[in-house]
Amino acid sequence: MEKSRSRHALLLCLVFLTMLTPTMESHLRHDYYRNICPNVESIVRNAVARKLQQTFVTAPATLRMFFHDCFVRGCDASVMLVSPKGNDERHSSIDLSLAGDGFDTVVKAKAAVDNDPQCRNKVSCADILAMAARDVISMSGGPYYKVELGRLDGKISTRASVRHRLPLPEFKLDALKAMFASHGLSQTDMVALSGGHTIGFSHCKTVQRRVFNFRNSNKDKTVNPNYARSLRKQCPIHVDPRVAISLDPTTPQIFDNVYFKNLQRGMGLLSSDQILYTDHRSRPTVDLFASNKTAFEEAFVAAITKLGRVGVKKGKHGEIRRDCNFIN
Ligand code: HEM
Ligand SMILES: *[C@@H]1O[C@H](CO)[C@@H](O)[C@H](O)[C@H]1NC(C)=O
Repeated sequence: MEKSRSRHALLLCLVFLTMLTPTMESHLRHDYYRNICPNVESIVRNAVARKLQQTFVTAPATLRMFFHDCFVRGCDASVMLVSPKGNDERHSSIDLSLAGDGFDTVVKAKAAVDNDPQCRNKVSCADILAMAARDVISMSGGPYYKVELGRLDGKISTRASVRHRLPLPEFKLDALKAMFASHGLSQTDMVALSGGHTIGFSHCKTVQRRVFNFRNSNKDKTVNPNYARSLRKQCPIHVDPRVAISLDPTTPQIFDNVYFKNLQRGMGLLSSDQILYTDHRSRPTVDLFASNKTAFEEAFVAAITKLGRVGVKKGKHGEIRRDCNFIN
């Protein structure tokens, strides 16, 4: 009797704790805006489609921006904030290479949403970015999935907060794993999300180290020799620093699993791409995604859904920004 009562108390206590603990997915919902702005998904999708018609860069730019936003202070559109003195995330060295079309996509979608009186100032920039990322993926041939919604926009963005929070292209598997694990993402999630490099570009600077013999740096032996030759041609030593080349040289504008097939042939553009195949611990996952597009798509959707839950703001920690570039 005594024993069962204390067990009962323990159970109640656990239930209570579970309710109080802010689990990552606690309040995000697919139908968050059902009564607030019922057409939000189609409004965003139309705005994204219009922007994508103007330039394909819309797709990779928006996807990368979502990733960078979530890894720095959580998915709270802090990446979009503009501070008058330039002390904001987008002025950090790594985010300076975010393509402007990603920002523009969210600004345009936000304007379209706010054009509907029922929706005005009721949909967060963080949620618009999450929806836009999903839309560019599916519009480029990738999977369509339901996006969890209900994020608030953050009120803080600093250049310093980007430091050590985003992976570098020189990272080896352990460093990549550790950084993703710090956000609750597994090695499989990390490999699947790296599949985001199936679209978009990298500037030449990042590539040259791998294919030229510079002092103190040996050429990377994991690069396919023909691919290395092509990279030296596309990115000669004195190339204009603005020149960018495709991350997926085979199908650069299609969100598919060819990125993983490229890795099997030594055609990963970044060292952090190729390492996923070189390291025996992640190679089986690369092989699986290369041979089975459905397996990749399912893993990608699971992983980007988890990514979308990272550091989500609620209550006094956030707001619905009126202008995505400034706090209210
Ligand atoms: C695994 C660790 C990762 C590293 C080290 C990494 C690094 C990079 C680098 C160096 C670039 C080229 C930037 C430039 O030169 O302009 C890039 C581009 C890109 N990354 Fe990643 N990334 C990683 C993961 C991800 C993830 C998880 C996603 C999204 C799911 C993503 C999406 C993109 C996209 C779409 C581009 C192309 C951007 C454009 O064309 O504007 N990356 N990444
Ligand atoms: C591919 O992956 C999917 C999803 O995991 C699975 O259901 C299917 O059986 C796999 N196909 C093959 C040919 O292995």
